[in-house]
Amino acid sequence: MYTQLEQRGMTEPPVNVSTLRKMKDKGEKIACLTAYDASYGLLVDAAGTDVVLVGDSLGMVIQGHDTTVPVTVSDIIYHSKSVRRGLRRAFLMADMPFMSYTNPRQALDNAVLLMQEGGAMMIKLEGGAGQFEIVEHLARHDIPVCAHIGLKPQSVHKIGGFKVQGREPGKAKEMIENSKRLQDAGADIVLLECVPNELGTAVTNALDVPVIGIGAGPDVDGQILVLYDMLDITRGKTPKFVKNFMRGNDAPIDALAAFVKAVKDGSYPEPEHCFS
Ligand code: KIV
Repeated sequence: MYTQLEQRGMTEPPVNVSTLRKMKDKGEKIACLTAYDASYGLLVDAAGTDVVLVGDSLGMVIQGHDTTVPVTVSDIIYHSKSVRRGLRRAFLMADMPFMSYTNPRQALDNAVLLMQEGGAMMIKLEGGAGQFEIVEHLARHDIPVCAHIGLKPQSVHKIGGFKVQGREPGKAKEMIENSKRLQDAGADIVLLECVPNELGTAVTNALDVPVIGIGAGPDVDGQILVLYDMLDITRGKTPKFVKNFMRGNDAPIDALAAFVKAVKDGSYPEPEHCFS
């Protein structure tokens, strides 16, 4: 099965920003996963994943920290380089770590490092009202940007834990407005984490760019999970939105293929993975 899947990656054209935009327009779901090394990059790509994220979640699942805060630009570059060597078709996104984008100049310098040294094709930053100017600056320099809103794990110490966001009507309205402003500033993708289904639907309907959800309900344009969570290699409490795709599958490649299929046919997320 693995060779068969790998060959598919060799024949299909590489995914790019316009592929993702067309998928949204056609209502074709986008399957995304994190990866941190070349071997899993190869497997995740071979399973048909459209976007691979070198997330700062590596601070937790690879380095064993309790949060993503200790991750550095050098860490992301190291893992991004490795993942890139495993990819054939998938689009590679890399995270801008904590405090690596405090002003437009610093953000541009670090985004350039992630792209030139790390081989990333898009950078992701955790954004809200404070990041409009930074997104605009990066977009003006043709850096593809994903704006991560909703639960922003880099702010965990400020918000007091990993909690569902946007439950209050005022906060939900603000998040929809911010997502539109991030799109207008030049964001090519919005990633929405841990919000009620209704808010996931509203943000997706409000935007022309693809919205990738993690705990944001079934109506977003695509789904992403942390690789180790969906392979059931998670330390501590598993988030509600995670499904263990190893259940019923003998090998990681089968679990990855099952995830991609479930995202594409809409059978993941199920109600038990959602916040209402
Ligand atoms: O760092 C990461 O893996 C992420 C995902 C949770 C989307 O940002």
